[in-house]
Amino acid sequence: MRYLPELFANNRAWATKRVSQNPQYFTRLCAIQTPRYLWIGCADSRVPANEIVGLEPGELFVHRNVANIVRADDLNCIAVLQYAIEFLGTTDVIVCGHYGCGGVQAALGAPVPKPLERWIAPIREIRRSQAADIDGRTDADARWRRLCELNVISQVRELSRLPILTSAWAKGRPLTVHGWIYDLHDGLLRDLDVSATQNTSEAA
Ligand code: CO
Repeated sequence: MRYLPELFANNRAWATKRVSQNPQYFTRLCAIQTPRYLWIGCADSRVPANEIVGLEPGELFVHRNVANIVRADDLNCIAVLQYAIEFLGTTDVIVCGHYGCGGVQAALGAPVPKPLERWIAPIREIRRSQAADIDGRTDADARWRRLCELNVISQVRELSRLPILTSAWAKGRPLTVHGWIYDLHDGLLRDLDVSATQNTSEAA
């Protein structure tokens, strides 16, 4: 092995352990993929989606990018959503942000180099449009934390307006969008209570 042999060694150990615990492990995994949940989270290495919700391979469809942003013109994100909802039968879409998010922090500071600056533009816009809520906080850390929360809330709203979601709701598909935040300090998730369903979307 020329490159990164330690990762291949880890992989062999992992696969061996799985099979020793359940000889049919990979055979069964190959046969079906019907994850109930779609996770849209930050690419941050400290927020491993499957692990923090205790789900096995096959149980969580995952899309991650810098600062868990959902945009109608992001082909990658939209394709993941369409595949999960229309083909895999996913019923719960979870947008999960995290405190201590570097992408969110960048949106509180001076402009960063180009591709990243374009990417975090939606968070700068949230910061602008909800300045009173953020600036009323006591210190820089509290403002950062609040923007992490407002970013998740904004992405849930953005998601709920996408045609993939609204048409699924129009067909009566059971589908709920959730907004959560993860705390790196204690490893715990918090529900931000902004879940959107067919009914809440009609009321909005
Ligand atoms: Co992050």
